[in-house]
Amino acid sequence: MKALITAGGHGTRLRPITHTQNKHLIPIANKPILNYALEYVRDAGIREVGIITNQEGDEVKEVYGNGKALGLKIIYIPQERPSGLADCVRIAEPFIGTEPFVFYLGDNIIVGGIRRFIEEFEKNQTNCHLVLAKVPDPERFGVPEIKGNRIVNIVEKPKKPLSDFAVTGIYIYDHTIFEAVNNIKPSARGELEISDAHQYLLNKGYKVTFSEITGWWKDTGKPSDLLEANRLVLDNISTVIEGKVDRNSRISGRVVIAQGAEIVNSNIRGPVIIGAGAKISNAYIGPYSSIDKNCEISNAEIEFSIVSCNCIIRNQKIRIEASLLGKNVQIIESQAKPFTNRFIIGDQSLIEIR
Ligand code: DAU
Repeated sequence: MKALITAGGHGTRLRPITHTQNKHLIPIANKPILNYALEYVRDAGIREVGIITNQEGDEVKEVYGNGKALGLKIIYIPQERPSGLADCVRIAEPFIGTEPFVFYLGDNIIVGGIRRFIEEFEKNQTNCHLVLAKVPDPERFGVPEIKGNRIVNIVEKPKKPLSDFAVTGIYIYDHTIFEAVNNIKPSARGELEISDAHQYLLNKGYKVTFSEITGWWKDTGKPSDLLEANRLVLDNISTVIEGKVDRNSRISGRVVIAQGAEIVNSNIRGPVIIGAGAKISNAYIGPYSSIDKNCEISNAEIEFSIVSCNCIIRNQKIRIEASLLGKNVQIIESQAKPFTNRFIIGDQSLIEIR
C-alpha cells in the first residue's frame, strides 16, 4: 500500500501566516502539521509516499527531502493550480499505479493513527473506505447521508446537511477511484471535488464503507482550529525536561523542555512544550502553549498560544492568550517618548489591543 498526502492548496484562511509559509509547515506542539500525517502513514507500515505540492512546493521539499530521516521514501507531485482534491488523486495515478492507497489530507490531525482504518478496508474488501467524525458544523465539510448502516449520498459543504457527520480527510481506495476522478466534472467553485468522486462510486454501485473516529480529529483550516489542535496534541504529552531550569523557576503539570532551552525565574504551567534554544526569563507560560526553537520570552505572560521559532517577546505589560505567532515575530517594549505603539505588520495581520 502507498500513501498520497496533500500539501498544496491555497491556505487563504490562515493568512497572513500563509503569505510566507506553506500552511502544512505551521507548527503544532513544535512540529509541522505535515509531520503528523507522515508519521501516521509510516506507523501504519507504509513506506512509499507521494506529496502533492503547490507553486511554493520547494519549502516542503526542503524540510522532508527524500523522506529518509522519517523512514519513508517520498516523491513530490506538483499540482499546477489548486483544482480540487479529486484532481490531486487524478494527477497521482502514475505514482500509485494499481495498488490500494491511503489518501490523507495533510492538514488533518487525529489521535490514534490510521492503521485501524486500513484494517477495516482490507477486512471488508471494499473499493473505498471513508472515515467519519461527528461535528457541530457539518456544513464546512463533505457530509454523508446514512441509511441503515450504509452511506447513500455524499454532498460537499451542503447548506442543509443530512447528518451531523463530516467525511474526514482520511480515505482508503483501490484503483476504482481513478475511474471516478476521471469521470466527474468541476463543481460550481471550479474544483474537482472529492465528494463528487465518492458520489460517483456510490452511483455506480461500488462498495463504499466507513469507520467513525471515536477520539478526536481536527481539520486545521482556520487559526482557531490550529490552537485547538495544539491543545489536543499537548493534552497527550508526557513530561521530558532536558533543558536547564534554574532554582527560582516553578514547573507544574506536563511540560517538555527541549535540550538547550533555558528557564530562568519563570512559572511554567503545563501542558506546555518549549523548543531547543528557547530562553524564558521572568515570564509565565501557561497551559496549552507551544514555544518553538530559539524564542526569547522575558517579562511576559503567554497562555493557550502557538509561538513559532525565533520570536522575541519582551514586554512587562503584555499578557498574550489564544494567539498564533509566525516565525521571527518581535513584540517588544516601546522605548519611544512620548509613549506610543509602533507596528510593522504584514498584510492581513490581526492585532487586538486594549
Ligand atoms: O478535512 C476534511 C474535508 O477536507 C472534507 O470533509 C471535504 O469533503 C474535503 O473537500 C476537504 O475540504 P476542505 O475545504 O477542508 O479542503 P481544503 O481546500 O482545505 O484542502 C484540504 C487539503 O488539501 C489541504 O492539505 C490543502 C490540500 N489541497 C487542496 C486543494 C483544493 C491541495 O493540495 N490541492 C488542492 O487542489
